[in-house]
Order: sequence, then structure tokens, then C-alpha cells
Amino acid sequence: MADFRIGFRSLSEEVGGIDLPVQGRVPDWLEGVLLRTGPALFEVRGKPLGHWFDGLGMLYRFAFRGGRVEYRNRLLQSQGLKDARRFGRVTQDGFGTKADHGPLFNRLLGLFRGAVPSDNANVNIHRTDRGTFALTEVPGPIRIDPDTLETLGPETCRRAPPGHLTTAHPQWDGTRKEWVNTLLEFGRRSTCRVVAQAPGKPYPRTVAFVEMRAPAYMHSFGLTENFAVLFEPPFRVNPLELRLSGKPFIANYRWCQGEGTRFHMVDRRSGSVRTLEGPACFAFHQVNAFERPGEVVIDLCAYQDSGVLDGLRLDTLRGASPSLATGRVLRYRLPLDGHDAIQEVLWDGLMEMPRIHEARDNGREHAVAWGTGLSDPASGFLDCLLRLDAAKGQRTALWHQPGAYPGEPVMVPQPGGSGGVLLSLVLDAAAARSFLLVLDADTLDELARAPLPHAAPFNFHGQFYAEEKAVA
Ligand SMILES: [Fe+2]
Repeated sequence: MADFRIGFRSLSEEVGGIDLPVQGRVPDWLEGVLLRTGPALFEVRGKPLGHWFDGLGMLYRFAFRGGRVEYRNRLLQSQGLKDARRFGRVTQDGFGTKADHGPLFNRLLGLFRGAVPSDNANVNIHRTDRGTFALTEVPGPIRIDPDTLETLGPETCRRAPPGHLTTAHPQWDGTRKEWVNTLLEFGRRSTCRVVAQAPGKPYPRTVAFVEMRAPAYMHSFGLTENFAVLFEPPFRVNPLELRLSGKPFIANYRWCQGEGTRFHMVDRRSGSVRTLEGPACFAFHQVNAFERPGEVVIDLCAYQDSGVLDGLRLDTLRGASPSLATGRVLRYRLPLDGHDAIQEVLWDGLMEMPRIHEARDNGREHAVAWGTGLSDPASGFLDCLLRLDAAKGQRTALWHQPGAYPGEPVMVPQPGGSGGVLLSLVLDAAAARSFLLVLDADTLDELARAPLPHAAPFNFHGQFYAEEKAVA
């Protein structure tokens, strides 16, 4: 396969601490580590998994010092991986893959116990005062060693608020100095909590409750100075079906034609909730949210509907004619006076894996966002990096190389400077290898690239930490 489908091929090779050859020049000021996670093993005993999101996780580490780039990667030693190797079957319910409970007794046990939550933390990396973690959308982060990438095991806390689903996109509130996330508990009356955890606190506190009769799939949320903004696309589930249908998790959700996207504005000062509705869209990722006089604004990397999820099934992506859903960046303005949400098209093009200058702009009106995009529809998959001027709604810079498929651009600001770099793991399909790409964040001019010894499957999210030694 000499095309993007190489990015959906399993990688089991693990490499420990090698210096990558660097072409170009990595800025001297860039010191720290980029940690990433993503799906990497797509078969269990030769049988393909159902959905890209279910690939068993791989951790990646790029350490930058003195212009050099050191690389290592290591499979996440989840229970799911251990079971796959020991029993040759999927023992945990995934996003689009149902657990195979094996012999009859185990199947009955599986029915009795209901869904076995997945610990396949292949979505994001998170570091707090308690350590470094790999995250998925099931509560219970997986502790990892940020230096060796060793899996240290799940973080459990009996006093944590109850919930079945969270997001792998926790957000730092720099004003209150706490991490904020959502926690959805399915039930006859499902409830989504907004939770917050300050450093030194053993478990999160509940900030507010949002009642949801038929919860929607929510992958991320917005956070402003005073509000958490939960967005519910009209892609909903009856929680009873989740338990009884026997279908994979996401197959229980339905696109509710005619319904709009719902925004729950959670006032974190009072815990009060106000719900608004606007024109429908589906989105995994918010770009950013912020407050302006009289309104709260949230930008979403949006799709027309939930059909994008079908296109990300593994058999579709690996098939003869995969097609990427068309997308655009939508801005929803949420008036504080009780009127409905107003939808504006900020940029009429596909953007995914959005990042901003988080330390400066998260929760404040941002001037710039970066993301992956599609510059040549014949590419078949996300094939460029773009810089979006958020005030003008214009793409102001582009990086594209034919046959190359970049991942999430992580923005690293230059200490004390106004600029910075983007770090992206790119698949060079023709060479069947990946490379770590360093771009000037303003111009998207290439500064350096460092080829890996293998092709890394497309992965999801990562974080850069300026101090190389993190607390494990
Ligand atoms: Fe995500």
C-alpha cells in the first residue's frame, strides 16, 4: 500500500531511546518532551477490529535537547492488550467493537456484568501534579512513566464521583488553578457532571449537574473564564439500549434528524445551567470558547452529521474507496439573554485536530488556530497543516507535501518570544515511514524533520512538556 492506508496498518515494533537523524535545524530553545498516544494494533488474532478508534494503544515520546531528537515508542500495556495476547479475543467493549466473551459461561458472565469498560487509553496524554497519564473516554486514567513509557496501571479513586464516560480533553482553568472535565453517568435519568480537580486534591469535586434524558455523544467541551460549555449534537442514545442491544457502543447512537445542537452553558460560579439550541452539526472537537459582552462563543470543527463516524470504521478506511466527510469550522454565538444560539461559518473547509496557543488563549478570544486539513481531495485523508486566522476566518498559511499525511499540530510557544513551532507526526506514504515535523507556527515554513525507523499509525493527541523530567 503506497497511500495513506499505511496509517491504518498495525505497528508492533517498539524502539527504545534512539537519536533520530535530523534534516534542517531544530531550534535550540526547544527543550522538552512531546508525548503522544494513538491506536496501533488493529487485529486480534488476525481478526480486524471494528473501528479505527479501537486500535490497541501505542505511546510515543520525542525528547528535544540541543537540536537533537530522541525517540521511543511503547505499546500501552492495557488489560485489553494483555487479554488479546492471552486469549486471542477482544475482552472489553470498545467504541465500535463489541467484546467477544468467548465460551458460553463467559458470555453469560458478560451479560450479567454488562459492558466491561475499556482501558485502551489511546486518545490523549494528561499530566497533573499526580503524574502523567494516558486517557480514553472511560474514567480511570492510565498512569505511565513519561521517561520510559512504561505502563504503571490504572488510577482508581473510590471517592471519585460516579460516571461511565468522560472526555479525553480535560482543560486547565488557569484562573481557579484546577482541571475541569465532564463525567456522564447513564441511567433512567442520565446526568452529566462538570467536575474540577485542583492540585493536591485526591479526587474531583462536582461543580454542576446537567440532566440529559437521551445523552448525546460528546468528545470535548468548551471552557471560558466563567462557563463550561457542553455541546450535544443531535446524536443520541437510549442508555437502556447501550446495556441490552448487544451492539457496539457507538452503534446504539442515532442521528435525530430535525433536532438542533444543544449547548449547556454551565455557570461555574453558581452551578446554574442554561440550555440553548442552534442549527445541527456533529463535532468531535471544539477549537476554543470565550466570552464577549453579552455572549459566549464556541468554535467547532464541525461536520454535517454523524456520518463522519461511519467513514472512520476500519474496513471503510482500509477499503477501496474511503471518503473523508466534508467539514467546516463553525462559530456558535450563545447569547446570555436567553435567545437561541447563532451559527456562523468561520471557515468553509475541513479542519481537524485543532490546537491553539493554549497557555495564552484557552478560554480567551484567540487570534489563531492550527489544525490538519485537506488540500487535495484526491489525497483521501487529511493531507495538510493549516493556520487559521480566527478573526478573519481565513487560512493564512499551509504546509503540504504530496503523499504525506500530517497529524495533530502541537503548538509550542518560544519562551519569552511571540512565536513558536508546531510539532506534527507525519506519515510519508511513499517511504512507508513517518517523520516528526517542526514548522514555524506563523509561516508554516519547515524548520526540520526527523524520520522515524517505521511508519507510525495515525494517532490522536499529544502534549508537549517543557521540562523533560516529569513527575511519574
Ligand atoms: Fe479528540
